[in-house]
Amino acid sequence: MKILIVVGTRPEAIKMAPVILALKEQPWAQVRVLATAQHRHMLDQVLNFFDITPDIDLDIMRPNQALTTLTARLLLDMDDVLLAEKPDVVLVQGDTTTVMAVSLACFYHRIPIGHVEAGLRTWDMDNPFPEEANRVITGRFARWHFAPTESSRQNLLREGIVDSAITVTGNTVIDALLMTAKKDLDLGINIDASKRLILITSHRRENFGEPFRNICRALKTLAERNPDVQFLYPVHPNPNVKDVAHEMLGASPNIILCAPLDYAPFVAAMQRSYLIISDSGGVQEEAPALGKPVLVLRDETERPEAVEQLVVKLVGSDYDRIVSETQRLLDDEAAYAGMSRGISPYGDGRGAERIVNVLKAFAA
Ligand code: UD1
Ligand code: UDP
Repeated sequence: MKILIVVGTRPEAIKMAPVILALKEQPWAQVRVLATAQHRHMLDQVLNFFDITPDIDLDIMRPNQALTTLTARLLLDMDDVLLAEKPDVVLVQGDTTTVMAVSLACFYHRIPIGHVEAGLRTWDMDNPFPEEANRVITGRFARWHFAPTESSRQNLLREGIVDSAITVTGNTVIDALLMTAKKDLDLGINIDASKRLILITSHRRENFGEPFRNICRALKTLAERNPDVQFLYPVHPNPNVKDVAHEMLGASPNIILCAPLDYAPFVAAMQRSYLIISDSGGVQEEAPALGKPVLVLRDETERPEAVEQLVVKLVGSDYDRIVSETQRLLDDEAAYAGMSRGISPYGDGRGAERIVNVLKAFAA
């Protein structure tokens, strides 16, 4: 069976790497890897770490790319790829523009797709934007829905997807995390060992503009009030984030702004952190498994499991909320202990194995 596996951005590569590596070991599977390279540097960082070389690379990224142009260029390029490759199955992961455009192209070419991390929903098309729309659209086209949790399976059933097309696999991000966390990891950045570390990431499109400026104001206040705490912020290269973060936080002595970290040092940073402030989807999934509280810079999340289990809390982009909730976790030991219990609601590290089993049954 000829399987074309698609990755476009950093999180897709992290979460697809375990699937690629597991399928490559199967004698019945002929695996081809397509990098759309919607991200360039951040995608390459991950592929290098997992020792994966794409068979096809569309090199699609442009500085500050618009969603419409990105989608149109992906669709055009996918015609050539699908005609040349003629895959039996295409696998996509998550909710990026790459996933949505590739799924649509496969639908037009009548090629079945498997959707890894299927069924996440906020039921609000504006949050996260455009990801909620991307996964709803992809969900309409998918032949196999690899849902990370029971609640994502329920979301798919609610949309009328037949149960037999859904498999609850766990999120493959935990496979990648466990593969990585057992290595000897080096953060590679000088951190004062005696001080607590707060790790920060932020890149959501719906936060661009004033919400992101509020987030930066809150971080600046927290850094001023807590000179004994270090803040490490690997800044996403999207110019809407990077320029503002450097302008507003660059002068704070205890905020370290750095380029995106390679995956292994980032896992080391999560391990080393006291708590994490982030709007990332992947980080919401990884941090609970490492026993690290996350304050999420969003008003809603398609990953409710960790919120329900009280190890992740939504704080939005509200200045007061970010400052007060962070300060509480710094000052209140009981509150901190409650959020750092070390549970893994999103997976057990065997997601890729379950995906392989479903495809193997189809190939037989
Ligand atoms: C994309 C996804 C988002 C995902 C995020 C993970 C879409 C619409 N958005 O957001 O769902 O959560 O990736 O990080 O699919 N850039 C670089 N180098 C890189 C990567 C990006 O310079 O390696 C800059 C470029 O200027 C690029 C811009 O970031 O144009 C935006 O990249 P894009 O993939 O469109 O959106 P993200 O905000 O990264
Ligand atoms: N990550 C990384 N380096 C960084 C920041 C994040 O390797 O500097 C990893 C993180 O461990 C997680 C993934 O990137 O697995 C999350 O990607 P991102 O936040 O860009 O996207 P999202 O998950 O929100 O779609």
